[in-house]
Amino acid sequence: MRVLIVGGGGREHALAWKLAQSPQCEALFAAPGNAGTAELGENLAVHDSDTDAICTAAFERRIDLVVVGPEAPLAAGLVDALTERGILAFGPSKAAAQIESSKWFAKSVMQSAGVPHAGGELFETAQAAHKWLEILGPDDLPVLKADGLAAGKGVIVPDHIDDAHAAVVDMFAGAFGSAGERVVIEDRLSGMEASAMAIVSGTDILPLPLSCDYKRIMDNDQGPNTGGMGVYVPPGFVGDADSVFGDVHQPVAEQMAAQGCEFRGLLYAGLMVDDGALNVLEFNARFGDPETQAVLPLLDGDLLPVLAASARGETLPRDVISHSGRASVSVAIVSGGYPGPYVTGKAIHGLNAVDDTVDVFHAGTAIDDDGRTVTSGGRVLAVNAVADTLTEARGIAYDNVQRITFDESFYRTDIALRELS
Ligand code: AMP
Ligand code: GLY
Repeated sequence: MRVLIVGGGGREHALAWKLAQSPQCEALFAAPGNAGTAELGENLAVHDSDTDAICTAAFERRIDLVVVGPEAPLAAGLVDALTERGILAFGPSKAAAQIESSKWFAKSVMQSAGVPHAGGELFETAQAAHKWLEILGPDDLPVLKADGLAAGKGVIVPDHIDDAHAAVVDMFAGAFGSAGERVVIEDRLSGMEASAMAIVSGTDILPLPLSCDYKRIMDNDQGPNTGGMGVYVPPGFVGDADSVFGDVHQPVAEQMAAQGCEFRGLLYAGLMVDDGALNVLEFNARFGDPETQAVLPLLDGDLLPVLAASARGETLPRDVISHSGRASVSVAIVSGGYPGPYVTGKAIHGLNAVDDTVDVFHAGTAIDDDGRTVTSGGRVLAVNAVADTLTEARGIAYDNVQRITFDESFYRTDIALRELS
């Protein structure tokens, strides 16, 4: 099969790395890709949100399967556009991608499917939202969410009720563009967060290992949120993985099929786990980033036929993929200043100094005019180690992280530590 991966982050490099190992993969392309995908196939100078250009590129390169990484092209209907042109694509239709692109749609599906989640209300005017907040007690702080896609920034967890009112003003004033035209206000939950990803083909689901990502920039979860600073597998606090997929993904997949928007693709549930009790905070309609970088190295067997079967809506092959039951730790190396302003174009050293058993997934990297691999984004690389135990995987990951340097590089030092202390 000739495969085109849409996107250019660490998730897409990890997908390219895994799919390139398939005996069925004849050629691999990425649009736009990064310096990591360039080593595995051909990068195409096509933006991941340019639906027409992706369809044209897929046609011209005789692509057999397009694998869509990010959420925005899914929400914009890329899979529908490819399907109309007879090109097979892994990922949900625009209608099914609403499980991520509308918080309220996701809540309605969970409500109908009996999936545990935070209760909430939908507001279409600022006035109604303010009125709702006034009814809440002073200690009864809610969570506010722009209904639509807001590049991971549309969720406000206020420290004071005044901040909640201010968030309502901002959202209805257009702080998140059209994503904030409708606002969901929901109950605040506490606990530890974990990510549960499954490949879905209609009502058939194939669970992947559970994982846990670190969103804050600094150790001990201090500082602002980022796109992800590290991941570990498995999160010991979640409990029985089978019951997570049976209680969440299976009923959601069945509910979506029943209401006429069958889900095909990757269904990611963001979980809040409190003393064994589990609630869903959000769904994503795509592979998690950076979870994918830690999860794919744990999968044995061939992922390509599984993605192709999902794209066709067929029963997912069970024999080609198995979980190794080992631990995985992924540490992100980011540009100094990230998630605020940062400088790019810094030469990256030590990429060849890592152990053979360690995988380095590129995110914000590029090849400069002198052929050097340089930084081109905030999150630059993810260094991933797999081992029999979390302690071992963590040790190997950090040992190798230290061998890669660039001017003003930064990483967290406490990834996976909470499971070990
Ligand atoms: P989401 O994009 O919905 O996952 O929200 C982003 C982050 O906001 C989550 O990872 C949580 O840390 C936090 N969050 C979202 N919903 C809630 C909630 N109902 N209660 C507490 N924290 C939440
Ligand atoms: N790691 C969170 C996400 O992929 O949205």
